[in-house]
Amino acid sequence: MSPLDQHARPLRNLRVSVTDRCNLRCQYCMPEQDYVWLPREDLLHFEEVDRLVDVFLDLGVDKVRLTGGEPLLRKDLPALVERLAHKPRLRDLAMTTNGVLLAAAAADLHRAGLHRLTVSLDTLQRDRFRRLARFDELDRVLAGLDAAAAVFPGFKIDTVVIRGVNDDELVPMVAFARARGAEVRFIEYMDVGGATHWSPGQVVSRQEMLASIAAHYGPVTPLDETSSAPADRYRLEDGTVFGIIASTTAPFCADCDRARLTADGMFYLCLYAAAGHDLRAPVRAGDDAAALAGYITRIWTARSDRGAEQRLALGDRTTLIPASALRRNPHWEMHTKGG
Ligand code: GTP
Ligand code: 5AD
Ligand code: SF4
Repeated sequence: MSPLDQHARPLRNLRVSVTDRCNLRCQYCMPEQDYVWLPREDLLHFEEVDRLVDVFLDLGVDKVRLTGGEPLLRKDLPALVERLAHKPRLRDLAMTTNGVLLAAAAADLHRAGLHRLTVSLDTLQRDRFRRLARFDELDRVLAGLDAAAAVFPGFKIDTVVIRGVNDDELVPMVAFARARGAEVRFIEYMDVGGATHWSPGQVVSRQEMLASIAAHYGPVTPLDETSSAPADRYRLEDGTVFGIIASTTAPFCADCDRARLTADGMFYLCLYAAAGHDLRAPVRAGDDAAALAGYITRIWTARSDRGAEQRLALGDRTTLIPASALRRNPHWEMHTKGG
């Protein structure tokens, strides 16, 4: 039975972070010089992730997304995909990657049974990529995208839009995605943990994005859809579809059915939550599925988080968590909670 939280939201969507490490340092996520990492011995083994996912499926979850950090840094990831992909109750198994290691992995992921793939890509310009992500990896990411297009047709590209950084690339990004049969989603820059350089002035709103796309491509029609997915989708006159995730100016907390599991087994109810719930300890203590389901149900039924809405209601705001505090609790980082 699917538990409902305090706002009658079911638990349907689980984001499973498989590592907090990353091979890029995107300035909206990891702008600092150094980081405190989760102790390796704390990371859930695949068998433990598998057991927990089964419990979440018992509770009504039917979508799982593997995230990081960068999930392809986790050794043998296709083996985890294979364990999860064949569970009949799992309607959707997806992954979000930065694409750096994707060229060599795409076919293996597909063979292992991954259903869907999203690749993060914020710029098509090499110098800009290096400045934004601190590594000169655009060419490898582009090779990864080609490999993805071959086996995951209709894959998604996620682009975080930042004023003065890449807000002049919306039009080329739409064309780039279309040429690869991919759907681009433009994401408003969010003031999540890790975004220590965030400022309101750098947020490009959905309205502004739509205006700049329409100025080039002509009329943009919203698709009439109801879903709990964060992206609003739009169609251009030539049929091209793209999405916008307006998490900063128009949060979708009211319909939020997602929870997060960090690589070390902390269960988070919101991207903005200050504290999580430890699932690693009960799993390692040998609790059975019924006990774990009871524990998770109690946590979910008490959930009242509406993090992004509360941030918006503050009006004038600066960064969520200062860098010094992030060093004390790496769980507050977006790359640990799973972007
Ligand atoms: P599908 O629509 O099922 O493909 O997946 P998705 O949109 O959930 O996945 P994805 O990982 O691509 O998420 C896209 C972006 O939405 C993230 O990178 C975040 O910027 C934002 N996002 C994801 N989860 C949350 C969340 O829980 N709250 C808020 N406010 N934003 C989120
Ligand atoms: N704002 C918006 N999206 C973010 N992500 C990470 N940090 C932020 C942020 N500050 C998301 C992006 C990226 C994914 C890995 O995490 O979508 O593509
Ligand atoms: Fe859900 Fe929290 Fe994100 Fe709002 S901010 S959509 S409640 S996870």
